[in-house]
Amino acid sequence: MILGIETSCDETAAALVTDEGEIRANVVSSQADLHARYGGVVPEVASRRHLELVTPVIREALAEAGATLADVDRIAVTQGPGLIGALLVGLAAAKAIAWSRRLPLVPVDHLDGHVASLYLQPDPLEPPFLCLLASGGHTMLLDVHSHTERELLGSTLDDAAGEAFDKGARLLGLGYPGGREIDRLASDGDPAAYDFPVARVPGLDFSFSGLKTALLYAVRDLAEEELEARRADLAASYQAAIVRALVERVREAAERIGRDRIAIVGGVAANSALRAALPEATAAPLALCTDNAAMIASAARWTEEVPYPRYLALDAYASR
Ligand code: KG4
Ligand code: ZN
Repeated sequence: MILGIETSCDETAAALVTDEGEIRANVVSSQADLHARYGGVVPEVASRRHLELVTPVIREALAEAGATLADVDRIAVTQGPGLIGALLVGLAAAKAIAWSRRLPLVPVDHLDGHVASLYLQPDPLEPPFLCLLASGGHTMLLDVHSHTERELLGSTLDDAAGEAFDKGARLLGLGYPGGREIDRLASDGDPAAYDFPVARVPGLDFSFSGLKTALLYAVRDLAEEELEARRADLAASYQAAIVRALVERVREAAERIGRDRIAIVGGVAANSALRAALPEATAAPLALCTDNAAMIASAARWTEEVPYPRYLALDAYASR
């Protein structure tokens, strides 16, 4: 079995996955409540919380799988991109466990992890396919040729789609993280109530920064009780604009490269409007959209391992 560890942002996660991609345990401890009062993730607070949670979360994953470290063949851990202090906690934990058991360590790229959320049982997707990776930190269109090769077709020039959701939620006075809150509120609203334009940039790239300005203006013009009455309509229209932009680009890319298989991964892939607007796409299972360690262990199946004790020199990276 592979023990996966993920601490790149505000989720402390550990999972046990077999070489065949069967999930034996998948434990995610979200720090969202801790960061909610700041309206976003505070890096130093996140690192300290990871430090407190990483060992109990790994223990819980082992218990859930009915396993001990003796059943683990290699340790997979997110090396980057992400918050550097947060990443270092997971990496240090992974090194310590691997070193103490003389096991190899597999450093995994977080984005490979999101794509590999599609390779897990019971319904693994086989490459090639076009993949939309939309999360709090990234928005990318990837041509996934094989388990090990992917090509970047387009990405965001400014905010990530999840960031647009989070910033929009903040303007609407909703909680953090905002994507799920907007998703929930939007089901009571009219997506055609407001016409929020999304900038069209050349090629297959995205741009979401103008959208939040449009929402800001709409909100600013409303009195407190008006905002209360229109909040669901604003959420639904704002969400519809993000989804429209994503779907348009996905279909354009699919046509351009001639792929008929489409997949969506990352936190934003949990969005119900996006899933409904792309019925032809395979969406990662809901529990595997937002950050988790099962996807990291899954990616490790196609990532080169570093033998004992060479990995002790590995460092984390905040960005590519
Ligand atoms: O993949 P993820 O957990 O972390 C990163 O790698 O960034 O994605 C988190 C992002 C957040 O911006 C969150 O607001 C968004 O995913 N998100 C959603 C939904 N659930 C999470 N956005 C829209 N609708 C959702 N249901
Ligand atoms: Zn992520």
